[in-house]
Amino acid sequence: MKLETIRWSGELDGHLVLIDQTLLPGETKELACRDVDTVFEAIRALRVRGAPAIGIAAAYGVCVGLQPFVHDRQHEFFDRAVEIVEYLATSRPTAVNLFWALARMQAKAQALQLARKSPSLALAALLAEARAIHEEDRLMCHAIGRYGAELLSNNSGVLTHCNAGGLATSEYGTALSVFFTAQDQGKQLHVFVDETRPLLQGARLTAWELAQRKIPATLICDSMAGQVMREGRVQAVVVGADRIAANGDTANKIGTYSVAVLAHAHGIPFYVAAPTNTFDLALASGDEIPIEERSAAEITHGFGKQTAPDGIHVYNPAFDVTPARYIQAIITERGVIAPVDRDTIAKLFAQQ
Ligand code: MRU
Repeated sequence: MKLETIRWSGELDGHLVLIDQTLLPGETKELACRDVDTVFEAIRALRVRGAPAIGIAAAYGVCVGLQPFVHDRQHEFFDRAVEIVEYLATSRPTAVNLFWALARMQAKAQALQLARKSPSLALAALLAEARAIHEEDRLMCHAIGRYGAELLSNNSGVLTHCNAGGLATSEYGTALSVFFTAQDQGKQLHVFVDETRPLLQGARLTAWELAQRKIPATLICDSMAGQVMREGRVQAVVVGADRIAANGDTANKIGTYSVAVLAHAHGIPFYVAAPTNTFDLALASGDEIPIEERSAAEITHGFGKQTAPDGIHVYNPAFDVTPARYIQAIITERGVIAPVDRDTIAKLFAQQ
């Protein structure tokens, strides 16, 4: 059976199914989400993670959350829709794709309410909207891969941080889509994978995806990236994004900023691969991006083992912001933005 990161099982009375990414790579197990609390917990606990994937999961989460109210009166059903959207929006703060997907579901619900649709017709239309968000993401990832692969040379070393692959999206990924597409085109790459402390998305998830596709890869600790670059092993860096401000400043997994500065110091191009729904043009710069802070236990008791003394003060921001000046280009499904600044970003969005 082909495992999918996210899928909807059944019809209108069906449910959301996710690969529980906290168990990878040791165990490949699916999690059935039959109520909105399970979807909320799955997002918060990173059972489903990666900016596009949490947006897609939340869109289906709205449908799961509305199922118990399908026999309620019309206005009650639509009131519940607003509450469920607001609830899911509190699951994680940084990836804007979550809020983008929920806003789209909310807008659809409003239109259905205005059109006086019955709860069961509205639920069917909302499920169709979630499926559309899911399918559009799949197509966007492939387009990102096609644009990005052109930027990579045959026989080059590339480095990535965190996981921006199929597990973080509907299928092919963003940063990893660039590598997968280059491979499909016959290019030979060697991927250096930052393990990505503290939750090891690189080691657990990216290394797993690359192994499945038989792409040569070497796992390194985050602190080794500078040495690997200095040894001349890396010709390009490609990472994903959780939120991109109007000036191109980019939030991504903690540690990305350090990699960008290192790439700059070594004259290595640093690329961000992200769909246009990862941009938040309402924010003038990266200073305004909310950065999620996660529990101290992720650092002091990573994967169940105590690795720091009791009572030590911990700071655990889950994301950082890379200033636009370190980004050579942003690879989107609509094309490549380079140089990266307010004007070039506005120009891409002005094109229909
Ligand atoms: O905390 P996570 O695992 O959700 O963080 C994920 C990342 O930072 C990814 O690089 C980003 O979401 C891009 S996914 C295509």
